[in-house]
Amino acid sequence: MTGRPFIVAIDGPAAAGKGTLARRLADAFGFAYLDTGALYRGVALSLIRAGVADPTESEATKAALRLDLSLLQSPDLRLEATGGMASRIAVMPAVRAALDALQRRFAEIPPQGAPGAVIDGRDIGTVICPKAQVKLFLTASVAARAERRVHELRARGLPADLAGITAEIEARDARDAGRATAPLKAAEDAHLLDTSDLGIEEVFAKAKSIIETARQTRT
Ligand code: DC
Repeated sequence: MTGRPFIVAIDGPAAAGKGTLARRLADAFGFAYLDTGALYRGVALSLIRAGVADPTESEATKAALRLDLSLLQSPDLRLEATGGMASRIAVMPAVRAALDALQRRFAEIPPQGAPGAVIDGRDIGTVICPKAQVKLFLTASVAARAERRVHELRARGLPADLAGITAEIEARDARDAGRATAPLKAAEDAHLLDTSDLGIEEVFAKAKSIIETARQTRT
């Protein structure tokens, strides 16, 4: 056993179930959890609140460098409008660079002395933690993800319309996967998990067993 934290990187498109899985895995293994999408959403929310509808890279980068972490607790973080703005500013290389150090530090020294971390996002296995001991890439059909997102929003008492959410998810997929810097893509050594027809318990069991195997064979 080395002293280096054990890192589980989870990447995948919007609404594939990364957050739910990541939280459960972190609980099961006593690891810290970082939702990197929340960082991009936090920057987006600070811009929306400041009335900046169409931020330049310099405006968005300033907001990223000054990110108030208490914003990450706001229920508005989960609104589709916040996710849409997050995806727009996430194409900007200087915004990504501004959030880079925080994410790498979390992986190097997980909070509260945790022996490892589960980190989810779009570029964790490819850019932020290319040496992660386990990389998972979670996907699901657009229809399955849109239905899940509608269900999630309604459960929170927020408005949700299936056609609108489907269009948002398609636009977000195209932007996240098509950008030049750190696009959404599976690392070559990632385990692909398609969650379209799998329940959370099945996805969790598969991921848990991949991690257990990797921990046993760790040198
Ligand atoms: O996972 P999410 O829906 O909360 O992420 C919101 C947006 O943030 C997503 O559309 C793209 C961006 N993002 C990113 O570019 N890189 C990450 N590691 C995480 C999120």
